[in-house]
Amino acid sequence: MNIQDELQVTIDALVQKGKGILAADESSPTIAKRFQAIDVESTEENRRAYRSLLLSTPDLGEFISGVILFEETLGQCSDDGVMLPALCVQQDIVPGVKVDKGKLPLPNAPGDEITQGLDGLELRLKGYKQQGARFAKWRDVYHINEVTPSLLAIQANAEVLARYAAICQAQGIVPIVEPEVLIDGTHSLTRCAEVSEVVFHEVFHALHRHHVVLEHMLLKPNMIVPGKLNPQQTNPHEVAVQTVRILRRTVPAAVPSINFLSGGLTPEVATANLNAMNQLDPQPWELSFSYGRALQEPALQAWKGDSANNQITQAALYQRARLNGIARYGKYTEAMECR
Ligand code: 13P
Repeated sequence: MNIQDELQVTIDALVQKGKGILAADESSPTIAKRFQAIDVESTEENRRAYRSLLLSTPDLGEFISGVILFEETLGQCSDDGVMLPALCVQQDIVPGVKVDKGKLPLPNAPGDEITQGLDGLELRLKGYKQQGARFAKWRDVYHINEVTPSLLAIQANAEVLARYAAICQAQGIVPIVEPEVLIDGTHSLTRCAEVSEVVFHEVFHALHRHHVVLEHMLLKPNMIVPGKLNPQQTNPHEVAVQTVRILRRTVPAAVPSINFLSGGLTPEVATANLNAMNQLDPQPWELSFSYGRALQEPALQAWKGDSANNQITQAALYQRARLNGIARYGKYTEAMECR
């Protein structure tokens, strides 16, 4: 198969009605933080046990088309001795991998950060592909305060995101392009909209410069929401209208699907917001999910590091995946939370 066909096959497998992506690619410091909240030590075995449990959830593939894994997970086995990427395939789920190497302060841009990981990326991708990964993820972050994000940070991050995407496509790996305008702070919804519009615009400008094939990538953006410390919060319909408004201005129709991150929204709000977007008029792209916390939080709380809780852990993940699958059709209601 040539590379374009290979990319298209992966896109077709990832972009399916009623399905979205599970982000289970927490870096070592992040998974340690998540485990600390349930009083579990972040050892290699605990990480393996937890992720193996999530991925072996019966029928997860009904609502999940792809899973983003952390590098370490690609080389780990399930309790039954099946390599975890192979377990995903058994579930009809495409395995992917987070490939950025986290972020650093951006020199001469106080308060801004730049994502690293381009050096040696081509070689790493070849290895990940051999381990079963068919798509990748790279996350850029943008902090909102009075002076950030600076134009320098917006342009520099867009450039690395586009270079990453181009390198992935050359290797037959579908890139998920993730610009995340953070929810932290007291800013208004309007400010989030203004910043996100400039960020997304710059990202697509850079993707164009680097000849990234828009049909063969996915966008993973934040939703347009007020800062989480802003007392004036809003409702899912307003979030949906503002988010779609900004995306329509910045994201070409050639992009097949927009898979939102949850970014610290509660699981219920993340589902309600996605549902509200899918209740608006049809858009040129699919509107889907690629949630980490919003899919995993109830499962993590159920698990608590104890295998006696395995069944309720899987039930909790299945339930969130199912509700987000329903939100893909705009048919979710709050009453479904109680069932
Ligand atoms: P959240 O949905 O928890 O924001 O995680 C998604 C993700 O992959 C962040 O990079």
